[in-house]
Amino acid sequence: MIRGEKLYEGKAKIVYTTDDPDKLWVHFKDEATAFDGKKKGVIENKGYLNAQVSSKLFGVLSRNGVPTHFVRLETPRDMIVRKLEIIPVEVVVRNVVAGSMSKRLGIEEGRKLTQPVLEFYYKSDALGDPWVNESHVLALGWAQAAEVEAIRSMALTVNRVLSKHLGNVGILLVDFKLEFGRTSDGTILLGDEISPDTCRLWDVRSGEKLDKDRFRRDMGGVEDAYEEVLRRLS
Ligand code: TMP
Ligand code: ASP
Repeated sequence: MIRGEKLYEGKAKIVYTTDDPDKLWVHFKDEATAFDGKKKGVIENKGYLNAQVSSKLFGVLSRNGVPTHFVRLETPRDMIVRKLEIIPVEVVVRNVVAGSMSKRLGIEEGRKLTQPVLEFYYKSDALGDPWVNESHVLALGWAQAAEVEAIRSMALTVNRVLSKHLGNVGILLVDFKLEFGRTSDGTILLGDEISPDTCRLWDVRSGEKLDKDRFRRDMGGVEDAYEEVLRRLS
């Protein structure tokens, strides 16, 4: 497949056209940011590790009935995906209290939730991805009611499938962020990536963090943690 012009450069990925109008080329970068780009750094080999982890998890999801944009890995850190019109909403699913939920509600990290929590954020770095609810998504025309229903159902299925899959390799899926988009015929597909950048992953036994919180919180051992996730999934 031929890589065409650069369409968009984000904080973690660069998106290019290809010779197929329905497909895009996604290059995974080593650059890391946190707190809406306020903290910057490089995680050695992150592009490779996230492309690998994402492609494995997208494969697991599609085998379990969740339609995703993933087509194939073109190089070890470049992914071919279906072209989507991205819905500007970040969908967060939580199984355990951590991160912004812990701060916002004053509940200590680590409390297990009695059922998954689903949250929506408006995708805008300039505004710091503000929290919104379903009525904002509908009233602002970001998605139709049937699409929101499809997204909710797919997000909860992703949670069930990945919690089990990661649980089998000793990883607790604490929370994660998903993005969805529409194909040209209006089908909703899971997009973006699923990686230690976009999930909280804790070792089941030790509670050790195997995700981007090591970078956000300057804990060290970031590459080792990402490598450990890939190793367990391989
Ligand atoms: P939070 O606790 O900071 O709201 O994050 C919840 C989950 O979403 C966590 O697994 C990290 C992920 N996430 C992203 O992937 N991108 C983001 O911009 C944010 C804020 C969180
Ligand atoms: N990905 C977001 C950023 O770069 C937030 C985060 O992951 O903490 O700013």
